[in-house]
Amino acid sequence: MLESTRRRMLEALGIGSAAALAGCNANDAPQASDTATAGTESSMAQSTDTDRVAADPTNLPDPVDWNSPQTHEVTLTVEEVTAEIEPGVTFDYMTFDGQIPGPMVRVRQGDTVELTMENPPENAMPHNVDFHAIYATGGGAVATTAAPGSENKMRFQARYPGAYIYHCAVPNLDYHISAGMFGMILVEPEDGLPEVDRELYFGQHELYTNKGVGEEGHHGFDMDAMANEQPTYVLLNGEKYAWAAAGRGPVEVQQDETVRVFLVDGGPNYSSNFHPIGNVWSRAYRDGGLPEDQDPEEYADKNIQTMKVPPGSCMIGEMETPVPERIKLVDHALSRVARRGLMAEVDVLGEEDDDIYDPDFDGSENDGPRYG
Ligand code: CU
Ligand code: CU
Repeated sequence: MLESTRRRMLEALGIGSAAALAGCNANDAPQASDTATAGTESSMAQSTDTDRVAADPTNLPDPVDWNSPQTHEVTLTVEEVTAEIEPGVTFDYMTFDGQIPGPMVRVRQGDTVELTMENPPENAMPHNVDFHAIYATGGGAVATTAAPGSENKMRFQARYPGAYIYHCAVPNLDYHISAGMFGMILVEPEDGLPEVDRELYFGQHELYTNKGVGEEGHHGFDMDAMANEQPTYVLLNGEKYAWAAAGRGPVEVQQDETVRVFLVDGGPNYSSNFHPIGNVWSRAYRDGGLPEDQDPEEYADKNIQTMKVPPGSCMIGEMETPVPERIKLVDHALSRVARRGLMAEVDVLGEEDDDIYDPDFDGSENDGPRYG
């Protein structure tokens, strides 16, 4: 940790040449010449600070169970960490609390939050946080801007309900968000959200690097690619196929559970076209909007196949799970799935129900009306 921190600080100061760094890492191979080593070193996968930046989608706060205004103390700690996008491919992420998306903050409309934005001394850059859920200059970004080794506090009241993004908003905010600095604050209406069996939390964003998808080694950030909006990776929870069989494994739910999915789209530039393959958003809250004076269930859109989620916005979607299946959560701009690493999977465990779906049907039992 110290090693890479030192490296980043040197780099930030513009004096961290790879050749110089080779000298401070005992594990480096002996070098024939500093120049040759520099070329190799800069493209090799780097040692990681953490095994995982992908937030566990099942790890989110419990639903609001209080019915009068409360005050919450919330601390967000910025962690600049080197981690793998996929095996053998490293990247210098910037995160809230070491995870992508950052931790969900969950409150009730009318609650007060006393927020601390902490920027530990081992970080290289200033950071802050802008909440879309509040009335405040820059969503609080000005008040919370903190240099490495400092912290800032602010207090706000969550006056309107909904699911909102929070994100870093320093001058290079697109870079900081692309490197991972975004999350969700959920402000539940005073009467709460309808009860469901499961809740899952995902964040979509794009990563702009100076190498191709899957190219082994350390990927640097590519400002030109970002300016041109041509990402290398488009991801759910910060890693390639993080929560799918091809990655850390699917999320498991039981048959007949109602599953509520929260998505925050950090962008910085791409909208999501969020679709559950093999299912439908039975109830969907566009842009995470929640009503103040209406039953959320009546307010929700019904049976939406694909939800548009702009960058800097969220969505809430609910699925029913009447049969066992593997649901794939995707951006239906499908090249992002096939070629740029975006997908999560939800396995529904249970008993088959042939009336709803019969994967073994071969036409031999002529037991129903026929067409054509
Ligand atoms: Cu930042
Ligand atoms: Cu914003």
